[in-house]
Amino acid sequence: MADVTWSEPANTSTALLLLGRGSDPASERGVDCPGDLPAPSDPDLVARAAAAKAALGDRVFVLGHHYQRDEVIQFADVTGDSFKLAREAAARPSAEFIVFCGVHFMAESADILTDSSQKVILPDLAAGCSMADMAVLGQVQTAWEHFEDLGIADEIVPVTYMNSSADIKGFVGRTKGVVCTSSNAKRALTWSFEQGSKVFFLPDQHLGRNTAVLDMGFDLEDCVLYDPHKPNGGLTDDQLRNARMILWRGHCSVHGRFTIDSVREVRERVPGVNVLVHPECRHDVVRAADQVGSTEYIIKALEAAPAGSSWAVGTELNLVRRMALAHPDKQIMFLDRTVCYCSTMNRIDLPHLVWALEELVAGRVPNQITVDEDTAHHARVALDQMLALP
Ligand code: 13P
Ligand code: SF4
Repeated sequence: MADVTWSEPANTSTALLLLGRGSDPASERGVDCPGDLPAPSDPDLVARAAAAKAALGDRVFVLGHHYQRDEVIQFADVTGDSFKLAREAAARPSAEFIVFCGVHFMAESADILTDSSQKVILPDLAAGCSMADMAVLGQVQTAWEHFEDLGIADEIVPVTYMNSSADIKGFVGRTKGVVCTSSNAKRALTWSFEQGSKVFFLPDQHLGRNTAVLDMGFDLEDCVLYDPHKPNGGLTDDQLRNARMILWRGHCSVHGRFTIDSVREVRERVPGVNVLVHPECRHDVVRAADQVGSTEYIIKALEAAPAGSSWAVGTELNLVRRMALAHPDKQIMFLDRTVCYCSTMNRIDLPHLVWALEELVAGRVPNQITVDEDTAHHARVALDQMLALP
């Protein structure tokens, strides 16, 4: 990996304010600490991580999601979005240990797609995903039984976003559906509407709505929101019968916080700015943006942008900051002044990575993520269906 420096981008009037550097009264982001900060409790963590990784050699392969902290990313053998990382894990059959610097559903997908002899490790088990947690298997089964009682289940194709638990992917595999990512959601919906007349989209309502309306030409009225905390999802039988998209009431707690006001505000503040957002953002935000795309799309768009252009980016702060630092010739800023890091992604820090690697060196396997064989089998069916999408 290229060295990552920790300097604030200075060429912009709207520089990203890094936590712990400077202060912004409007957002209360950042803490000014004049003088030197004390050393972390163990200043040798970088050296310990490097030593443990070297001792493990080819036995270990470290994956880093784009939203991870720089201190962790520097030890990743490969970086990527959730789908790319799962594929990278599957392409390394010789690695005994896959250390996944990401969140729980990603480690599960890696376990599903890797050899049974390989062990997938999540350095901190608290690194979950609030969106994935919004769809629990029992709730989804209850919804499906209701669709069966109404006589509409045969017309419905379930589609789950990659950002869901293995249980949900397994459910989708059993019910002849497909997994999608933010890069191939349109292709997944196109395929699904060739198999049936309705889609049951889990767990991110925003990705489902944005893809259906902006890419597939559906009206907002074609979409209904199924709330698992209300009887029958809070929907009448007619609403369910007439809907083309039944959206699960789930959202990303990071992307869901960008608002239309953030877009208006940055357009006023930075003339000519390009607003670039992830499709997990709310529908009105995506509509008001200039471009929308997956994490990989965002990276490529910023790389290809001309020098001197200005970009307000609505995705996770670690990634936006890294892009701003990597492209000092472009003005790259965060779309909102108050939205924060993904707190669960940030659970993976250097102490946990060092701990996990040193445990492996000592012959112990910490925090192994395993998906039971039956669930893995059906989840693989839904993932394979995604890979076979035309
Ligand atoms: P991707 O990794 O597929 O871009 O998803 C974004 C995200 O929110 C990951 O948690
Ligand atoms: Fe989950 Fe959103 Fe965090 Fe991704 S960014 S891990 S979808 S909460």
